[in-house]
Amino acid sequence: MGKHTKKTDFTLSGRFLAYILSKSCNVKGIRLATSQGEQYIKLARALRPACSEVLQPGTWIQVQGYQKVNTKTGKIKLKAKAIMPALPGGSSSNSNAPVQLFPEPASKTQKGKIRICQKSSCRKRGSQQVFTALNSALQASGQDKEIQLQPMGCVGKCKAGPNLVVLPDKARYTKVKPKNITNILQQHF
Ligand code: FES
Repeated sequence: MGKHTKKTDFTLSGRFLAYILSKSCNVKGIRLATSQGEQYIKLARALRPACSEVLQPGTWIQVQGYQKVNTKTGKIKLKAKAIMPALPGGSSSNSNAPVQLFPEPASKTQKGKIRICQKSSCRKRGSQQVFTALNSALQASGQDKEIQLQPMGCVGKCKAGPNLVVLPDKARYTKVKPKNITNILQQHF
């Protein structure tokens, strides 16, 4: 921490507005409408495992975390450590259960499936090469026993092909290239 930075805890209530995504489609933070205006709050790594939207805009939540204040510039950075449900108006709800931000990540031992569209539009856009590259990557890493590769039919997003679905996370990817598969595998398995 720099010598001009002061770190303190904060608790903020407000209405969830939106997830903020990085270029690679990972969730970095959230926007919260509070009584003091709109705030950007970065999420601790444990709170952002996937790019899947579960919180509905308008949901009342209470965010606890810490803030870093630059005593020279007055700039404040907020980082969330826990997100709890709140009652409309912002008071904390009786339930202390953390809000589910994302679907439960699949257990590491659970078998997964990757389905790749093999119909004509996706094939023209390279779905077979993606299939082959995934197959090789799974064999090379020894994951071919746990992760099943399956061709699938058209999912109606032909112009955005090759289309791919990862289960059990139900994550959909479009315009997949062989170079993207390492990231996709790391994200889900
Ligand atoms: S051909 Fe692949 S989604 Fe339609």
